[in-house]
Amino acid sequence: MVPFIGLKRQYRGIEKEILSATRKIFEKGRFILGEEVSAFEKEFARYCGVRHGVGVGSGTDALYLALKAAGIGEGDEVVTVANSFIATSLAISFTGAKPLFVDIDPKTYTMDPDGLEILLKREKAKRDGRKIKAVLPVHLYGHPADMGSIMEIANRYDLIVIEDACQAHGAKYGGKKVGSFGALGCFSFYPTKNLGGYGDGGMVVTNQKRYDKKLRLLRNYGERKKYRHILKGGNSRLDEIQAAILRVKLQYLDRWNEQRRRQAKIYTEMLAPLGVVCPSERGRAKHVYHLYVIRTRKRDGLQRFLRRRGIETLIHYPIPIHRQKAYKELGYRKDDLPVTKRWAGKILSLPFFPEMTKSEMEEVRQQIEKFFTGNRSR
Ligand SMILES: Cc1ncc(COP(=O)(O)O)c(C=O)c1O
Repeated sequence: MVPFIGLKRQYRGIEKEILSATRKIFEKGRFILGEEVSAFEKEFARYCGVRHGVGVGSGTDALYLALKAAGIGEGDEVVTVANSFIATSLAISFTGAKPLFVDIDPKTYTMDPDGLEILLKREKAKRDGRKIKAVLPVHLYGHPADMGSIMEIANRYDLIVIEDACQAHGAKYGGKKVGSFGALGCFSFYPTKNLGGYGDGGMVVTNQKRYDKKLRLLRNYGERKKYRHILKGGNSRLDEIQAAILRVKLQYLDRWNEQRRRQAKIYTEMLAPLGVVCPSERGRAKHVYHLYVIRTRKRDGLQRFLRRRGIETLIHYPIPIHRQKAYKELGYRKDDLPVTKRWAGKILSLPFFPEMTKSEMEEVRQQIEKFFTGNRSR
């Protein structure tokens, strides 16, 4: 049995610190917007290399509130990718805006800057091209999107950039952390993330004071002072227990990410000779391997074969967002976004986590080799 992820093993390594940090919260009796959240906001913002961080209820809320803070709403359009978790575009839809999708780069699985430029040129030529207000790239699987090109294009078209860094805590592009390129960067602390809590949580990071102020209102009923509400905000706050846990885990994040990078190298050395396409680190990227995703034409057969031998795998994501029922009103066709479509049938996420043992990786390699020995073409 090789599990997909090993959160219990991670917990064993940090149990004492976690229990001591959470015990303090219970003893203090303050659970919402206290010292732990403020301290973690400062620490995580500093980690990302930006001035402000605002803790919110989830990664989905981080994206939604970032879009709201940037003034995105009814009638606007936001350019993003369809090869992502659906939350990326749900957040756009919740504001009343419409997502527009561009295809992905075939090697990094992230937004193709040429596709972005073509879409913007085409839409600009139309009268309603002015509806496009923002670009929302996703640093998928832990690989940063090509932020050099995306920022240059967005600036030329006068568009706000909001980053979906929910899978990429600590990833860098050209030596700079993701989340610090756009006006706003969004993170999820869902338990399985590179930095994950023991429940839901999220954060928006930004260098701009006005966004920081707006986000603090939006996450907490629009309240400026006790019972003084200056706008219609919601309730979406990172809680004290999660913040205390995340403060402990943040101290390990770089170590865990380095371990992920070492393991990815080992996996690639083991698996590339078998003929599957392994993930790579392109251009100025520093990948943090939230997921280790391979590609093969025999994906479905391989997944079934591994499942029967107790090796857990997942597909991120089997149906791209533009082909989901929830988005049928957008009218995308089967052959739109050809790379996204083709890759959705071939990608497979293998078991991968910092505490995974070399012998578990070897077991995965052996079973993949066995599968291909019985199925000649890759
Ligand atoms: C790329 C991406 N965007 C957004 C989200 C939403 O985050 P959450 O689950 O914390 O709402 C996730 C994670 O689930 C994600 O992987």
